[in-house]
Amino acid sequence: MDWMKVVTIGAVLGVAAAARRFPAGFKLGTATAAYQVEGGWNASDKGESIWDHFVHSRPEVISDLSNGDVACDSYHRWREDIQLLVDLNMDFYRFSIAWPRVLPTGFPNRVSKDGVRYYSDLIDGLLEKGIEPLVTLYHWDLPQPLQDLGGWTNPQIADWFTDYARVVFEQFGDRVNTWLTINEPQSVCDGGYTGLLAPGLESEQRGAYLCTKHVMLAHAKAYRLYEKEFKPKYVKGQVSLTNHMMWYEPETAQDAELTELVKDYAIGRYSHPIFSAAGGWPPALERHIAQRSREEGEPRSRLPPFTQEEIELIRGSYDFLGLNHYTTKTVRAVAPGEATGTYVSGGFAELGAKLGARPEWRTATSSWLSIHPEGFRSLLSYIKQQYGNVKIFIMENGVSGSGEELDDQSRVDFYRDYLAQVLLAMEQDGVDVIGYTAWSLMDNFEWMDGYQ
Ligand SMILES: *[C@@H]1O[C@H](CO)[C@@H](O)[C@H](O)[C@H]1NC(C)=O
Repeated sequence: MDWMKVVTIGAVLGVAAAARRFPAGFKLGTATAAYQVEGGWNASDKGESIWDHFVHSRPEVISDLSNGDVACDSYHRWREDIQLLVDLNMDFYRFSIAWPRVLPTGFPNRVSKDGVRYYSDLIDGLLEKGIEPLVTLYHWDLPQPLQDLGGWTNPQIADWFTDYARVVFEQFGDRVNTWLTINEPQSVCDGGYTGLLAPGLESEQRGAYLCTKHVMLAHAKAYRLYEKEFKPKYVKGQVSLTNHMMWYEPETAQDAELTELVKDYAIGRYSHPIFSAAGGWPPALERHIAQRSREEGEPRSRLPPFTQEEIELIRGSYDFLGLNHYTTKTVRAVAPGEATGTYVSGGFAELGAKLGARPEWRTATSSWLSIHPEGFRSLLSYIKQQYGNVKIFIMENGVSGSGEELDDQSRVDFYRDYLAQVLLAMEQDGVDVIGYTAWSLMDNFEWMDGYQ
């Protein structure tokens, strides 16, 4: 750890640097995603992604009618991005590769020379400045031709994704050590199948569950490919995925049991198959959905089961646990006759659960983001309790502010308070956190919120 970083963290935490500091080797970085920053949506032979398709065919879904056609123009201005990282004294930069930029058809029969060159130059430029490239393979920009074949609901996607992963590992594996397969499967599936995100479909209890199963398999197959064919060559290589995890608190003591089921649904559905000792779906959740499916006259559970072979393939397919965290929600049961809402509006119909926030929590510019730093420490402890003392790499944490505040004290406060809770989890609860990523490097296209 260098001198600047000790001083910076000390200043951010508002305490003497000597008294509270992250351990030597703790990595700090910042992140972006391809569609949010690159622009160059039709540069060279790049293929169309589901985000290109979504914003062009349904422009009204984006709050300010904007899109990512140009965004931060990182496709052309990546040297300036690197300079920003240098100015921030970052250890690493987490960015994502756009699948249709590398494989214009979605399939590996055609690899784009210009696409490969773009990421290769970016990686070399970072390494020249001593900044480690940390690469996400999928941050939501699926090639549209694959969506036309059913996207994440088609079981073939596990192989399509693995074919794509192979091309990327072959091209960049000699220079990239840390890989994330999928960013936030919960957003991909629950978001993509409630109309919150592209492809903008509505099938929360069918499409989303098929997606959940296939995203787990896609991740695991790509992990096993790397383990078998690349790790022997690249011994420092490490692969995981990064999950979006809110923290959930019961609104009243009566809601405690429901809150555990909500954690299984929102956290465990995407983590238990990979990180738990037993593997497979969280058992209480699997029973719950099977029973509800029966009660509603379904011939089988809406949550597709895993075979024993699939359970073994997925279980343990990680070298660390990637974590994106922003906020805490309260949980209560819906009142009789009350609509649950969906993932978008803060409810889980499958569980009869409503999400909320305590009145004393401040809210960020994003209405869903209530500021409750203590929830971060509780979540970190929960992960340790559920999945053992796994190495946790925080891949996103941050807060939105209104555009006018350049002197953004509220953001400084957020980082100080959330980082302080991370440090408490490490020091007091023995949680093994190995790095922290601020979201994001720069203002960018915030999906349905556009540039607002
Ligand atoms: C690329 O897209 C822009 C709009 O963002 C359009 O003006 C331009 O003609 C397109 N270029 C090609 C080669 O299709």
